[in-house]
Parts: sequence; C-alpha cells; structure tokens
Amino acid sequence: MNARIRTPHLAVLLEPDWAAEALVTDVRRGLGTVPRSLPPKWLYDERGSQLFDRITRLPEYYPTEAERSILAERADAVAALSGARTLVELGSGTSDKTRLLLDALTGAGQLDRFVPVDVSAEILTEAAEQIAQRYPGVGVDAVVGDFTLHLSHLTRYPNKLVAFLGGTLGNLYLEERAAFLGALSDALSPGDHLLLGTDLVKEADRLISAYDDSAGVTEEFVKNALLVLNAQLGGDFDPDAFGYVPFWDSRMRRMDLRLRAEVPQRVRLPGADLELDLAAGEEIRIEISTKFTPDQIAAELGSVDLGVVEQWTDPAGDFALTLARRH
Ligand code: AVJ
Repeated sequence: MNARIRTPHLAVLLEPDWAAEALVTDVRRGLGTVPRSLPPKWLYDERGSQLFDRITRLPEYYPTEAERSILAERADAVAALSGARTLVELGSGTSDKTRLLLDALTGAGQLDRFVPVDVSAEILTEAAEQIAQRYPGVGVDAVVGDFTLHLSHLTRYPNKLVAFLGGTLGNLYLEERAAFLGALSDALSPGDHLLLGTDLVKEADRLISAYDDSAGVTEEFVKNALLVLNAQLGGDFDPDAFGYVPFWDSRMRRMDLRLRAEVPQRVRLPGADLELDLAAGEEIRIEISTKFTPDQIAAELGSVDLGVVEQWTDPAGDFALTLARRH
C-alpha cells in the first residue's frame, strides 16, 4: 500500500530583504577596512552554485567523493546509533548525500520528518518537493534560514539528527565556529545527535591543488564573488584585474583563498555607498577552509557537551565524519 505523499511545508525565517541588507553590512565591514575580506556565503548565487558543483567533480577536489564514500558505508550505522526520527540538514542544497541518509533512516522505518535548512527559498522548494515525492510518509518542513542565526527553531523537533556536511564548518573563523557549535548544542536536547563532515589536515601540495585546480574552476568560483558584488551593489569590479592567490596557512591550518589587485585601482560599490582605493598587490580574502584532526574535532565538540559516538574516515584518511550525541 502506498503511504500518502505529504505536502512540504516552508517556514520563512528571513525577512524578504534580509539578504540585501546583510550583504551591505558585510561589504562595509569586510571591504571597507584593512585587511579586506568578504564572508564566503555570498559566493553562492546561481552561477556560484553551478561553479561549486563543478568543483565537486574536479579530479583534484577529493572532499565530496571522500565524504560520499564514508556515508555510503556508514549511513545504516548512523541511523541505528542515532535512532533519529527527524533528520535536519543545515545548508542542505540538493545533495545526493542527503539521499543516503534518508534511505538509511526510512529503510530502518524510523523517519517521521525531514527538515532542510537553507538561505535559498528556490533551492529548498525544489528539494522539498522532490523528497516529499520520493519518500512518501515522511513530512518535509523546509526552513528558509541562516544556520548561524536560526538554530533555535530546531528545538521543536524531538529525536533529531542534525547533519552538517561537506566541510562547511571550516569556512568559519575560530570565534564564529565556537559560537556556532555552542548555539547548535543549545538547539539540541539530551540524546539528539549531530553528524558532522570535516576535511582533515594533510600534505600542503594536495590541499593546494584541491583549491588551485588545473582547469581554473576554483579561481572562477572565487572571482565570482566580485561579480556578485557588481550585480547586487551596482559595482564595477574588473575580475581580470585580480590574480588568484590560494595558500596553505600551516599555523592556522587552513586554506586561505584571496584575490590580489594586480594594478592600483578604484572600485565603486554604489549599493553599499562605498569607494575602494586598492593599491597594487593589495589582497581581499574571499574564503578560508579550515582543516581538522579527528582529536581536535572531538575536543571542540566535547567543549559544547557533544560526546563523540563514532568517527569514521575514508580509507585514505582524507575526510572525517563524526557522529556525536548531546549529553
Ligand atoms: C563548501 C566550504 C566545503 O571549503 O572546500 C571549494 C568551498 N571553495 N573550493 C571548501 C570551496 C573552494 C568548500 N566548502
């Protein structure tokens, strides 16, 4: 007998002009002061999302396939160990990795609800409809929200497993990461679980080639940040006037992806009421991608009352998936 397909529900926690206002604030704070930087969340407009999708299929970019292979092997264990009845996915996009978890949880007959959280209403609506069709009997509550701001919305779901995959935690600075993990732990009840995907520290040359691919897709992706500012703020950045500077910061254990002004230039961003005078050689940091060790992950989770249940890596030891339980 077929279970009834339930209509997805969409909760919008972001004001309609949230993105526009937040971008202006971030640009004034990040680009208006030295050293210049921009938060990486603005990389993912439609073109940026497509470019990132191409990155995940590059031969040099190992994290996506490494994480997928761990999940393929361990999704059943995640379902059994967590006993979760609600799956929450932060920054969900439309990944096929979610399917592996949904298959395992529905296969074990334990899943009531799927709660994807993303800033993009369009991506969410599409994903929510597909999942409602494919998993009849599973309720879909899509949440349009920013996972750094709206975690408390999740307290209403009992017996939950929150998946935060892809290594996105590495995008946050140390203080942001601590604040995020603390707020996430606060949104969990004792016995709830977190499934966290993190990239691991490894030889510098492999890291650098993963972020400086020979086809130049990552460079295009990082330079797309300038095109997003041009489109959203009426700016006049010339991406060709910038060089791409990816490097491994061994002290902070993170990839640091920057754009360097090749020549002195003035850039106007009327939408943010900003004019930038960039000297030749001046750099803008577009993204960091922090790498971890398994022990460090366990320690950071432990400091917010999340105890490691299991940690898995792929055979090469490139990437880690950590299942943790809220004390
Ligand atoms: C989506 C944040 C996990 O840090 O590896 C890939 C983004 N940037 N190549 C990462 C990214 C350049 C990616 N995350």
